[in-house]
Parts: sequence; C-alpha cells; structure tokens
Amino acid sequence: MKKVTAFVGTARKKHTHYAVQKFLASLESQGDVECEIVALTDHKLEMCRGCKNCFRRGEEFCPLKDDRDLLIGKMMTSDGIVFATPNYSYQVSATMKAFLDRLGFVFHRPRFFGKTFTSIVAQGIYGGAKIVKYLDFVGMGLGCNVVRGSCTTALDPMNERERGGIDRVAVEHSRRFHSGLSQPAYPVPTLLKLFAFRAARTSMRVMLDESSRDYTYYRDKGWFESSYFYPTRLNVLKTNAGKLIDYISLRNARKQSAACKASDPDSGT
Ligand SMILES: Cc1cc2nc3c(=O)[nH]c(=O)nc-3n(C[C@H](O)[C@H](O)[C@H](O)COP(=O)(O)O)c2cc1C
Repeated sequence: MKKVTAFVGTARKKHTHYAVQKFLASLESQGDVECEIVALTDHKLEMCRGCKNCFRRGEEFCPLKDDRDLLIGKMMTSDGIVFATPNYSYQVSATMKAFLDRLGFVFHRPRFFGKTFTSIVAQGIYGGAKIVKYLDFVGMGLGCNVVRGSCTTALDPMNERERGGIDRVAVEHSRRFHSGLSQPAYPVPTLLKLFAFRAARTSMRVMLDESSRDYTYYRDKGWFESSYFYPTRLNVLKTNAGKLIDYISLRNARKQSAACKASDPDSGT
C-alpha cells in the first residue's frame, strides 16, 4: 500500500480542493493507494526572514517556530507527494509560497529521493500551465521523481462543463501518477538531473567549507565522491557527460569563488 499526501495551499474548499479530491479518489480507485489531504491553512507557517541560518548552520537553527517539521515529516512518510495551489496572479498562492520558502534548505540539500511528486493547479482563466511547470521543477529540486502535473480551469461558480473538464483531467492525471508510483523508486538520473547534481556539488566543494551545513551534508553523505545522490549505474555516455560537467563546473566555480572573494571577503551564499 502506497501513501500519497496532497499539500493544498488554498483558504477555500472550492476548486483546488475539488480537483485534488477528484484526483485522489481516482487514484485510490486504481488500487493499493491510501491518500491524505493536508490543508496548509490548517497549519502554522511563518514567513521566511531570509537569515539563511538553515543554509549555513542547519535547519534546526531557524528562528521561526511553526509546523515546518511536522509537514516535512508528512512528506517523509509518503510515497507520493502532491502540491496543489490556485493560480494567484500568475503564481502559486502566498500560502503555498510560504511553504516552499520554509523548504528552501531542502533545495540545497535534497532528501525526498524515491518519492513520486506531482502538482495540481486550479485557475480562473490563464497562466496556470507555467505554474505547473514551476511546481514540477520544485518537485525535482526536492529530490523526487516527477510526474507531469495538471491545470484545471473554472470560473466562479463552476458550471457543469467545467466540472466535467476537471473530472476528466483528474482521471488522466491520476493514471499517470499511479503508473509513476509503480516505476523504480531510484531511476538512473536524466542528463538534466545529473548536471544539476554535479554542478551543485562542485559549487559546494569550491565555494564552501566545513563551517557550512550544505558542505558537511554533502561530505557526510559521500556526495563529493559519488556518481549521483543515490547509488546508480551510469552508462558510458552519462559517465563521460558527468566527467565533463565536473570539469566545466569546477572551472566556473573557481572563477566565481575568486570573483566573490575579490568583491567581498566575507561573502557566502
Ligand atoms: C488574488 C487572486 C489572484 C488570481 N489570479 C489569477 C490569475 O492570475 N489567473 C487566473 O487564471 N486566475 C486567477 N485567479 C482565480 C483563481 O485562480 C481561481 O478562482 C481558482 O479557482 C481559485 O481556487 P480556489 O477555488 O481553490 O480558491 C485569482 C484569484 C485570486 C483570489
């Protein structure tokens, strides 16, 4: 039985909520899945103050006391993760953005490997497709295996045609996601993912030191030496691409580090 948790960033139990419910009901009907909806508005989420303590010293040094760790715990115990939001001014809602900012350190130190991620966006008219792309990119940054998300459109009040559209999208999307849940949890990385890993670890190694949690996290996980975040078998093409990325990103990181030191000896990320 796989656990799927949907984190929903809307104050209303209307269109986003409806789309999520339909998606999860369809997902459960395909078997071996149990679902939970987590309304972010039922949780305390403070606004990030930008101190970067989480990046430099560790997330436990965050001055904010809220439900961040409880929500991360729910993500950790899920096999599938859904981020759902209404389209607000061509972006995610402020509630969803507050949540993403509270997860900021995870984009430096990804940890949700083996989990399947997708996104659901509800909108009135236009702009949601880009938000789906954004959230799917966020899912990749968290370390998840991403299944393309969906965007549904309906005005207030929703009419029957719009309702039918949401229902149809929910079924198609849930089929994709159900299939994603049964794929290997630790796939061989795509070239894009390999690039992101190699470039990030080179920056960490060159630009940071033992005083930074980002650095010690990578070091303690063995990520400075490994092929990827988790054990995997790269083919010849990817092995060589990885070496090339290491080489180019090392050159770039050294240049960047020298430029940073020249402009501000106390600078950090
Ligand atoms: C502040 C605000 C901004 C919005 N901006 C957009 C927008 O840029 N594009 C759009 O298509 N709909 C926009 N909408 C409409 C919502 O996306 C739409 O009503 C959505 O279904 C709301 O989700 P909910 O029913 O879960 O609250 C906006 C709504 C609000 C309240």
